Amino acid sequence: MTTPSIPTLSSASGAKIPVIGFGTSQLGDCADIVATALRLGYRHIDTAWKYGSEKGVGQGIKAAGVPREEIFLVTKVSHEYLKAGDFARSVDESLRNLQVDYVDMLHIHWPTVDNIPLAETVGALAKAKRDGLTRHIGVANFNVALVEEAMRLCPEPLATLQAEYHPYLDQSRVLEFCQRVGLVFTAYCPLGRGKLFKDPVMAEIARAKGRTIAQVALRWQIQQGNIAPIPRSSDAAHMVESLAVFDFALTDDEMRRIHGLARPDGRIANPEGRAPAWD
Ligand SMILES: NC(=O)c1ccc[n+]([C@@H]2O[C@H](COP(=O)([O-])OP(=O)(O)OC[C@H]3O[C@@H](n4cnc5c(N)ncnc54)[C@H](OP(=O)(O)O)[C@@H]3O)[C@@H](O)[C@H]2O)c1
Repeated sequence: MTTPSIPTLSSASGAKIPVIGFGTSQLGDCADIVATALRLGYRHIDTAWKYGSEKGVGQGIKAAGVPREEIFLVTKVSHEYLKAGDFARSVDESLRNLQVDYVDMLHIHWPTVDNIPLAETVGALAKAKRDGLTRHIGVANFNVALVEEAMRLCPEPLATLQAEYHPYLDQSRVLEFCQRVGLVFTAYCPLGRGKLFKDPVMAEIARAKGRTIAQVALRWQIQQGNIAPIPRSSDAAHMVESLAVFDFALTDDEMRRIHGLARPDGRIANPEGRAPAWD
């Protein structure tokens, strides 16, 4: 089978990230799903200790037989483990779960809690990189002020910010910031966890393009540049569809209409006590 080749985005720090990735939250024991995604051409797999999907991802990588160096593998350290010692133990456990010697990207999953100094956590993040346990480092769910603070305190350069993004959520301030400082923006919930699929504007544009709503949503993101969406699917037909977004373009008017769908209550992931003051 020939698999589609996926363009990459580059961070200022030199990470090369396949522009469409594959999400694995809520998939649990996902070995077969991940193996299918890899066979269909996905080369950027997003997991996290918290998802409970790392073991399945590791098994899926082995089963697919895709060489390790062809895969951009991402995991995250959960907010329970932000003290340096806990952080290091969590990284070791993730690598064991994934059956790999290194990941390509390691994220702090949510900003610091319980007054653990951010300097300690980003120090542990940088140490994981210096010890060869991850090629690149990044943060998830940080607001702009926290990313700036992390960049100032971290002894190694950050490559990515992972945060929620879909047509119902305005992230213009964060996107402009990432572009300016050379961080690739990884977009989670890029399909709004399915909330977009009944949207009449999305449906109209999809009809006009002869595409699906999922494809239009992903195209809208990648066409902005510097955004790597990571849709999750357990359906092979959907996986194929979400990779087929490089052979059409949205017009300026279509892009503008989709931007116009953003609404104040559009955010999906907003856990109390963990979420920062969003931009
Ligand atoms: N850093 C963080 O805090 C954070 C938070 C949330 C998510 N994430 C990451 O981002 C990934 C994606 O976000 P998400 O899983 O919340 O939601 P999502 O990708 O926006 O939506 C997933 C839903 O869309 C459906 N879907 C996928 N492709 C489709 C297609 N081509 N056509 C129709 N339906 C399609 C899936 O159903 P089917 O299975 O039927 O295809 C699933 O129900 C996660 O898996 C995780 O890796 C990170």
